[in-house]
Amino acid sequence: MLKAVILIGGPLKGTRFRPLSLDIPKPLFPVAGLPMIQHHIEACVSVPNLKEILILGYYPASELTQFVAAMVQEYKINIRYLQEFMALGTAGGIYHFRDQIRLGSPEAFFILNGDVCADFPLVEMLEFHQQKGNKPLMTMLTTEATRQQSVHFGCIVQDRDTHEVTHYVEKPSTFVSTLINCGVYLCSLELFHTIATVFNARQQEYYNDGAGNGKEVIQLERDVLMPLAGTGRLFAMPTNNWWSQIKTAGAAIYANRHYLELYRSHSKERLVERGPAAGDGSKCSIIGDVHIHPTASVHHTATLGPNVSIGSNASIGPGVRIRESIVLSGASIANHSLILHSIVGRLSSVGQWSRVEGTPCDPNPNKPFAKMDNYSLFNSDGRLNPSITILGCSVTVPPEVILLNSIVLPYKELTRSFKNEIIL
Ligand code: GDD
Ligand code: GTP
Repeated sequence: MLKAVILIGGPLKGTRFRPLSLDIPKPLFPVAGLPMIQHHIEACVSVPNLKEILILGYYPASELTQFVAAMVQEYKINIRYLQEFMALGTAGGIYHFRDQIRLGSPEAFFILNGDVCADFPLVEMLEFHQQKGNKPLMTMLTTEATRQQSVHFGCIVQDRDTHEVTHYVEKPSTFVSTLINCGVYLCSLELFHTIATVFNARQQEYYNDGAGNGKEVIQLERDVLMPLAGTGRLFAMPTNNWWSQIKTAGAAIYANRHYLELYRSHSKERLVERGPAAGDGSKCSIIGDVHIHPTASVHHTATLGPNVSIGSNASIGPGVRIRESIVLSGASIANHSLILHSIVGRLSSVGQWSRVEGTPCDPNPNKPFAKMDNYSLFNSDGRLNPSITILGCSVTVPPEVILLNSIVLPYKELTRSFKNEIIL
């Protein structure tokens, strides 16, 4: 039997994802029509003999109750949210809830960072882990990054033949390796002994000299992976599958596109059939991959795609054109408006003949293995870095305006056009 743990952090995390994480916890932000971590859950559910998924974070339980109940109903598997009393770090929560994880003696358990998106090769990881016999305490998923970008991740040095991790550095200050940690692990239960050693050493320090605020905080990367490297018990499984982090709102658009593409192979029913508008008015024009929630209404003269997700109860008027964007539930886009590289928040409305446009922040297509750059909001001149346009929830955009590379905070009623601005 197997289990999985999804790490979702809490309200202090995901600040780069604002304003989209202001009204909904970031892990529940919909990408390709599903809450971000539902994609993790789907990947876990497809692993044979995986019996329980534990979601670990420090969001108030009330913010996840409804989601968890819906997931249990949909996938008919045990899923629970376990709330940390404070931010315990990426391994602190796992240690705190060790009894829950060990319950039923799973042979191994997955750990997935909630803020990554991927075509998760979990079954392959399991086979890889099992092939290594009793040796591995942990198998981590790894992928290639560019030299420059690798230092923003955990970096792995491995034995090429055995895939044993010989050296690991978390976000090094100088180049170590282009093999990076994807934040997806498969662990044997024995790993708890290793974490216990770290935990006990922390407690000892605290009682000896009062040092170590947050004595329960344990970071998986620094406190567990770094010492485990070179012991012969940590392995890295490389993947060429699509993988990315979701740190910024721009990354959500990128993830949206890839998850929609994955639907083509395993969930075709979630995509709208491509093609021109139907003469009988039953269907709008669809280009490429598009997901439309069954409760959304889209006028037959609208054109959507490629890479568009339309949320529940959204309404898309006549002549509207939407491309590379996410329109969240209850939003309305009036006649002949254009939405490009943007996220339209819940219950927001865009007036007719308006143009809402952002700048894509995709990985550099000319560099092999390039990942997304998680640029900060402002550049060194204090100006906003061009990025996707984001309308927070319940924003009103008037008719006949242009909104370019801007971020609009929730509940704003705009009265004119804006370019490269944050509208507070
Ligand atoms: N439950 C819980 N408690 N979850 C947490 C906590 C905590 O105290 N702190 C962080 N997390 C969750 C976050 O929500 C996120 O999903 C994941 O753990 C990773 O946390 P970060 O601290 O944001 O790390 P990172 O994303 O910068 O780097 C990690 O992931 C990279 C891959 O995306 C590292 O593992 C890197 O080595 C790795 O390359
Ligand atoms: P390519 O497909 O890359 O050639 O883009 P494009 O130069 O045709 O246009 P752009 O990327 O600016 O816009 C994408 C789509 O939106 C095109 O199909 C345009 O016809 C359509 N479009 C552009 N501006 C407007 C507008 O103001 N209103 C509406 N309704 N559609 C528009």
